[in-house]
Amino acid sequence: MSSIFSIRSATTRTLMVGVLGSVALLGSTASWSLDASAAEALARRNNCFKCHSSSGSGEAPPFKVLAAKYKGKAEAPDHLLKHLKTAPKVKAKDSEDEEEHLIIKAKDDADISNLVAWILAQ
Ligand code: HEC
Repeated sequence: MSSIFSIRSATTRTLMVGVLGSVALLGSTASWSLDASAAEALARRNNCFKCHSSSGSGEAPPFKVLAAKYKGKAEAPDHLLKHLKTAPKVKAKDSEDEEEHLIIKAKDDADISNLVAWILAQ
């Protein structure tokens, strides 16, 4: 019995290494194709910087603070894509009231993903 278990876990380990390797590869491909000027233009059109001003004076954290919060978290791109499409409740700085987050207006998910990648790279 124990030998079967050790074979299984060895296989699992090999699989894990494979999966992690592909994630790293995908990650580097994504940052390679990042279009920073398109991302910033989309953010500007949607008034994102009104609240997420880079100086921190808006009611929401600057994108570089969010990038630090999500650094190394594999689920971040999916989570933030969903955030921008579904308007979850958020709390503004210095406020106890919840408001719905703005839903992004974009041509398609690829444009939103590009913006998310840009945010995470700040
Ligand atoms: C009316 C103000 C406002 C506007 C406009 C706005 N946001 Fe936000 N955003 C917020 C607030 C408030 C939060 C919550 C901050 C917190 O929880 O500390 C937030 C959170 C976020 C988060 C983090 C979500 C999470 O779960 O951690 C991201 C990413 C984000 N906004 C991106 C954007 C983008 C991109 C735009 C433009 C399409 C945008 N925001 C426009 C106020 C705004």
